[in-house]
Amino acid sequence: MSTVRVDPAAALSGELAPPADKSLSHRAAILGAMASGSVRVRGYLEAADTSSTLAAVQQLGARVLRDGDELVIGGVGLRGAAAPGAPIDVGNAGTLMRLLPGWLAVQEGRSFTLDGDASIRRRPVDRIAEPLRRMGAEVQATDGRLPPFTVAGARLRPMTYEMPVASAQVKSCVLLAALGADGETTVSEPAPSRDHTERMLAAAGVGVRRDGRHITVGGVEALALDELVVPGDPSSAAFPLAAALVVRGSRVVLRGVGVNWTRSGFVRIAQRMGADVRGELEEPADAIATAEPIADLEVVAGDLHGTVVEPGEVPLAIDELPLVALLGCFAEGETVVRGAQELRLKESDRIATVVEGLRGLGARIEATDDGFAVTGTGGLRGGRISSHGDHRLAMLGAVAGLASREGVEVSGMEAARVSYPTFMDDVVTLVQGP
Ligand code: S3P
Repeated sequence: MSTVRVDPAAALSGELAPPADKSLSHRAAILGAMASGSVRVRGYLEAADTSSTLAAVQQLGARVLRDGDELVIGGVGLRGAAAPGAPIDVGNAGTLMRLLPGWLAVQEGRSFTLDGDASIRRRPVDRIAEPLRRMGAEVQATDGRLPPFTVAGARLRPMTYEMPVASAQVKSCVLLAALGADGETTVSEPAPSRDHTERMLAAAGVGVRRDGRHITVGGVEALALDELVVPGDPSSAAFPLAAALVVRGSRVVLRGVGVNWTRSGFVRIAQRMGADVRGELEEPADAIATAEPIADLEVVAGDLHGTVVEPGEVPLAIDELPLVALLGCFAEGETVVRGAQELRLKESDRIATVVEGLRGLGARIEATDDGFAVTGTGGLRGGRISSHGDHRLAMLGAVAGLASREGVEVSGMEAARVSYPTFMDDVVTLVQGP
């Protein structure tokens, strides 16, 4: 395990392009493998999680070729996944673990076992098992809800599914399975969550519709994807963005960031806290778009004040909520996050690890059942923080270090390779300036 010391920075300046979007890369590989013919992916994320996805789809028979900085994925067709001789290793990737079974459920007469690392083995799959069983697939999980688990494909029935929580992973799993069912499936989400799967299906010629919180898709014969462009990951960009907000005197430009409305909740929350973040964010729309909007964001440090993040905003900023806690440490007044119990099911229990981690650096922060409350005290002292093997905790610790008074030692910094392998290099670039 590597320990990295991050010293307080004078000011951050310059520009950088964050790594490609992890969510979109997983989907590009999975939908590419499901397609008939090949798809060219521009900007696929090179990181641990998305390498797990490429290995998984190759195990299922898809071909993956590198062509310069593009990836060409040769699909096996909607019903053509080969049964592998060994379990599929999803590594640390929750998105892979929850999306892929939607496709596997369509493979009549074949069964597939999925397993992953120690963190994955603590993350439940019952939320995807339940709808897949209702559609006719057989799912058997360890202790009824954990990996390793097995999916036996079947001739699926369409259904109407009311999701108990807003989860893009569960929604996507059901939508992928629905492609192989006879008839129309409707998934209803309690609040909007990221809509990348819907957009990519629309781009693949699938008639997917949204009516308020209901998304409907019918069974199809084949998917036809031609080319996909993966923008910069707003969840990765959020780390240098937050750093530029809390390190005094900073001014940073983030190039080519995905600004899909369902992913830009953190920028809106930060702006509400008084942050100076400029750039054209996508507006919400009724119809499902086929493309992913991209923009440059300019971030300037300044004074922040506390805010309340309400439950409906949570899915739109789910992976950035640890950074809301960090901004709260530097803001005047109180910052509260509500309705975010989902954080307990991420790569670590992010309510516990964020609260314990930031408190160790001098924060006044309390955990609640469904979030946390932070009282700003003008900054952070510094100290030691553990990543608990969670990439976003590792990067949170490093950003805290840049803005702290005494610096931060992050143990387990290598976890960042899951989504942002070049993170520390990018930090150095901004510390050194142009
Ligand atoms: C993801 C959805 C989110 C998010 C995860 C990636 C996705 O999970 O936390 O990192 O790519 O669909 P849920 O929507 O299931 O909470």
